[in-house]
Amino acid sequence: MIYEPKVLPILKWPEADGLHEVSVAVTEFDVGLQQFAYDMLVTMKASNGVGLAAPQVGVLKRLLIICIEDDKQIVLVNPELIEASKALFKWNEGCLSVPGYYENRERPERIAVKFQNLLGEPQDFEFRGLYAFAIQHEMDHLDGKLFVDGASELKRLRIKTKMKKAAKK
Ligand code: CO
Repeated sequence: MIYEPKVLPILKWPEADGLHEVSVAVTEFDVGLQQFAYDMLVTMKASNGVGLAAPQVGVLKRLLIICIEDDKQIVLVNPELIEASKALFKWNEGCLSVPGYYENRERPERIAVKFQNLLGEPQDFEFRGLYAFAIQHEMDHLDGKLFVDGASELKRLRIKTKMKKAAKK
């Protein structure tokens, strides 16, 4: 039987609970996990995102997906940062949980990450540039961190206004 993936609702800051929770490790590498990853992919694509972490759809598990180029879908289960370069990569950071808001930010340009694939097999990869940036952003979600957390009260208010405007479009 072919699985029909479904678009899941994406939790939005600041209303949603769960976005600040620390996710737990994935221990079952079954068909259900593969189907969930497929759901996450179609959910991310439906919102034109390049990355999505499981807690953003209310599942507190350490799983994230990245799709920057259409033919390269990357699923990282239980990712761990092994190494990060001193060199930085600048990008206009955005988040599907904070729609309509972007901010320039620098993150390490090159990272080495240890993770498991959907079959539970251990992997060890190096990522650069936008890939490294996006993975670091999604890994923050697994630890309950959002890129707007550090902003001042005034700035957070401005972000909320921008989000409301974006939602009306
Ligand atoms: Co995000």
